[in-house]
Amino acid sequence: KRTAVIVVAAGSGTRLGYGMPKALVPLNNRTLLEHALDRIALATCPDEVVVVLPAGDSELSALCASHELNPRTIAGGGTRNDSVRAGLSALGPGVEQVLIHDSARCLTPPEVFDSVAGALAGGATAVIPVLPVVDTIKTVALTPGAEQPHVTGTPAREFLRAVQTPQGFHAATLIAAHAQADGWDKARAEEITDDAMLMERLGERVDTVPGSPEALKITTPMDLLLAQSLLGAGTT
Ligand code: C5P
Repeated sequence: KRTAVIVVAAGSGTRLGYGMPKALVPLNNRTLLEHALDRIALATCPDEVVVVLPAGDSELSALCASHELNPRTIAGGGTRNDSVRAGLSALGPGVEQVLIHDSARCLTPPEVFDSVAGALAGGATAVIPVLPVVDTIKTVALTPGAEQPHVTGTPAREFLRAVQTPQGFHAATLIAAHAQADGWDKARAEEITDDAMLMERLGERVDTVPGSPEALKITTPMDLLLAQSLLGAGTT
């Protein structure tokens, strides 16, 4: 089945504190976006690749143009959801499966792309890579006037998973879901933090495959240190 990978790289990266789009941040002399593309190039599933870039960017487009994958590029929007929608609008004809990947998870191994695509080819509508959760997770609520929230519950850890990307979807179903969410009011739209959640809201079943510790999301300076160690140790 024809498979596309959309890499969303239009985020500002303010939490990393580099004063540049996160996808441009260097990690061992290569930008985060190039690391992501390097690994996608080693996966067997992609028939086409689209990269969603910050509006007005020229540096990242130049990096895409010189990369062996030579991905199509398009400008993103104000939220991650807007950027995904822009990516979907840039797909070529005949795409049946689409994988949405965060450039911030730039060390995600090629095998994860192929296992997500494989699960889709096996009939799944939506597939996400997940890892077991090591921490005990609490739900909290903030009472008006209180400085800190109080605990309202402890979900059983065996039923919790941390979610990574690439998230894979039957393309027509994801496109229809995004078209529907386009009409939602701002508050409802802002609740949606990933594509799988959109599918869940629309009653679609979301399956899981094993993720990878290397697919960590680079958000803070500490994550960059960890990524540098992984590269230095030659594990990725
Ligand atoms: O901000 P956050 O870390 O959740 O972003 C996850 C991914 O979504 C990143 O790869 C980022 O580049 C992308 N993103 C985007 N457009 C936005 C916001 C985030 O492409 N407006």
